[in-house]
Amino acid sequence: MKTIAHISDLHFGTELPVLAAALRDELQSNPPSLLVVSGDLTQRARRRQFSAARQYLDELPQPQLVVPGNHDVPLYDVVRRFLFPLTRYRKLVTDELDPIFEDGDLFVAGLNSARSLTWKSGRLSLEQIEALRARLLATRAAFKIVVTHHPFIPPPKGSSEARIDLVGRAAQALAVLDAGKVDLLLAGHLHHGYSGDTRPYYPGNRAIVSAQAGTVFSRRVRPSDPNGYNRITLNGNSIRIEVRTWQERRFESLRTTHYQRVEDGWHIVE
Ligand SMILES: [Fe+2]
Ligand SMILES: [Fe+2]
Repeated sequence: MKTIAHISDLHFGTELPVLAAALRDELQSNPPSLLVVSGDLTQRARRRQFSAARQYLDELPQPQLVVPGNHDVPLYDVVRRFLFPLTRYRKLVTDELDPIFEDGDLFVAGLNSARSLTWKSGRLSLEQIEALRARLLATRAAFKIVVTHHPFIPPPKGSSEARIDLVGRAAQALAVLDAGKVDLLLAGHLHHGYSGDTRPYYPGNRAIVSAQAGTVFSRRVRPSDPNGYNRITLNGNSIRIEVRTWQERRFESLRTTHYQRVEDGWHIVE
């Protein structure tokens, strides 16, 4: 059995210190097999915001796998945005933009989807997709997971987002992820915690579980979506995604969704 704590959209600069401290205590007292951070570590890609993020990550359990988000690329400083988009991130958070974690049971690949030109929308490059194809073929891990900032599937119908930025080249990447038998996709960006399987949106492929985390402790919450994160349990043919949200004084379990592996991929267990 493996556990993953999946946090996203920390947005240092707009962080709520009480929530940040509570999360740190919770993760320290119950450390996961791997901590995944799916981007937007800062609000405006400022040096002091990256320093605060770095200091905070240093207090959380290891191992960690971190990818950048669009907010980690400067928006208004156009010189930095186009010439040095992720320089501060690479200096202060991690130099690796497409990190890989592997421990025999878990293969986890992070892909940087943050782009300077289309600042809010993200995209994967053909080179990233090809590199991942090779890595997926080489691994024998029981669970294969891909982490991006921008999600592959939209929130459930009836959600209030005005515009939904899915990751660019999603369909091309999905074909490779499908052939490589990926089990789980982790993302953030919309500040909305939800999960589902990919098949309704990418018919013809195997069903891959796609889980998005809300913003873990930023003030930038949507009214309908409290701060929260995902605690994921992987065991044999089962993936359980527990959404833990801030409820007055602590993070508490809001709901757990259970997926089971069958021949054509992963299906929700009602
Ligand atoms: Fe964000
Ligand atoms: Fe974002």
